[in-house]
Amino acid sequence: MTDAELLARADAVAERAYAPYSKFLVGCAVLTRDGRVIEGVNVENAAYPLGVCAERTAFSRAIVEGYRPGDFVVAAVTASPCGGCRQWLVEMGVERVVFRHGADVRTMTPSELLPDTFEL
Ligand code: THU
Repeated sequence: MTDAELLARADAVAERAYAPYSKFLVGCAVLTRDGRVIEGVNVENAAYPLGVCAERTAFSRAIVEGYRPGDFVVAAVTASPCGGCRQWLVEMGVERVVFRHGADVRTMTPSELLPDTFEL
């Protein structure tokens, strides 16, 4: 699975986002070390702050499946990850993040996305 193929999976799953308020559909596809792809979408709520980002639904699904930080290779996202999701990407220990930024596709490490990270 190439990074481009993983991003294509994120693009496709974005159509299943539940985003009636922002109408901004986001998809995320995470490649695990054992070769699985786990997808997520943003899920909004009428109480706006309760909505969850695509990255977090993908990683939450992965955690339920039994995966743990360090089990992930790449996360592909159809948008530039928000600040909170950058913290999640650091914690989940992905090697790199591929994301759309306008017309561009960028690849960055979690520490490039969020330097000097807060850790316990
Ligand atoms: N969103 C994500 O799903 N991931 C991000 O990293 C950026 C923002 C969602 C949250 C909200 O449902 C919509 O995009 C608009 O902010």
